Amino acid sequence: MEKKLLITGGAGFMGSHFIRYILEKYENYQITNLDKLTYAGNLDNLADIEKNFSNRYQFIKGDITQEGDVNKALKQEVDIIVNFAAETHVDRSILEPKSFLLTDIVGTYNLLEAVRLGKANKIIQISTDEVFGQIKQGEFFEDSPFLPNSPYSAAKASADLFCRAYWKTYQIPVIVVHSCNYYGTHQYPEKLIPLFITNLLEEKDIPIYGDGEQVREWIFTEDYCQALDLIMHYGKIGESYNIGTGQRKKNKEVAELILKFMNKDKSYIKYVKDRPGHDFRYAINSDKLRKQFNWKPQVEFEQGLAKTIVWYENNEDWWKKLKNGDYLEYYKKQYNALDKN
Ligand code: NAD
Ligand code: TYD
Repeated sequence: MEKKLLITGGAGFMGSHFIRYILEKYENYQITNLDKLTYAGNLDNLADIEKNFSNRYQFIKGDITQEGDVNKALKQEVDIIVNFAAETHVDRSILEPKSFLLTDIVGTYNLLEAVRLGKANKIIQISTDEVFGQIKQGEFFEDSPFLPNSPYSAAKASADLFCRAYWKTYQIPVIVVHSCNYYGTHQYPEKLIPLFITNLLEEKDIPIYGDGEQVREWIFTEDYCQALDLIMHYGKIGESYNIGTGQRKKNKEVAELILKFMNKDKSYIKYVKDRPGHDFRYAINSDKLRKQFNWKPQVEFEQGLAKTIVWYENNEDWWKKLKNGDYLEYYKKQYNALDKN
């Protein structure tokens, strides 16, 4: 059956992977990508899509905090909105929280309103395990309380609460997805894995915050897209789903694996001041997704990491130009902030 999708934030890391995944898998799906093209939005991520799927894909530059931009993208009614658009980096949220509040909360509100007014039949809100806060032992479940600790996770949690309220109050068809940390190709080189890989390719140190004992759970792009595809089509309206792999690693272990795969020694590791409010451990239970849809991740962390490293090694053109301009400004601020801690 033909379907029209509006993907927001599709020029970013996971949004662009999901657009490619859907267009390749479903021959009769049409996608509109609404993206503001912030520092994290990159049309290079979509160059092959523009070329290979020009009859089923269109890009609109626009901001989800602006009702007019959202309406423009929804001129024709769509079947499903998938809201990837967000400010996503915790460290930036500590330095400049306001854009997180605007995009992640007000932007989501605008999309929920559009669904309430009948401009789309369903909305999938892309969220994170970070809304649950940190967990020393055990796992977060779908009904764990929200205890966010960073401006980023507080903004995502607020948006998720609006989704819940819009379902309870107006019965608008909404599903919220909480995922563990993503990794893979085309991730902006400010996040842990691409930052460490590209720093090493430039013969620079890799900064580990605090003692590096913090734990994150990791999912590779393809596994995430498969899980989201199932939830988007068959997930129960009004519910939320966790996406997780159980592949949990200390930051120190991730750094050591990257060093090993890149044939570098541990002298590149630099322990730096800790991130303020740094969550110690995330771990998410995904039994609901696994049982309902018989889903399980296919990619082992070390296998996905090796693929990711090879991609960054072969795509310097993609990442080198990102490591200047806004990026350098951000790093200046970041290190000044760390010095003051
Ligand atoms: P990203 O930072 O790579 O990309 C975000 C995209 O959103 C960019 O293309 C940017 O231009 C766009 N955008 C930002 N503000 C916008 C606005 N006001 N209007 C329209 N577009 C705007 O993001 P990502 O890491 O791929 O994450 C995508 C989604 O997944 C986010 O909602 C994030 O909270 C969530 N998430 C991320 C992770 C992770 O590990 N990266 C884990 C769980 C959930
Ligand atoms: P990040 O990729 O920013 O994702 P998140 O904070 O959303 O989990 O960071 C992953 C982990 O790596 C987190 O515990 C912070 C840590 N980290 C470092 O130790 N050094 C770094 O330079 C960065 C960017 C992150």
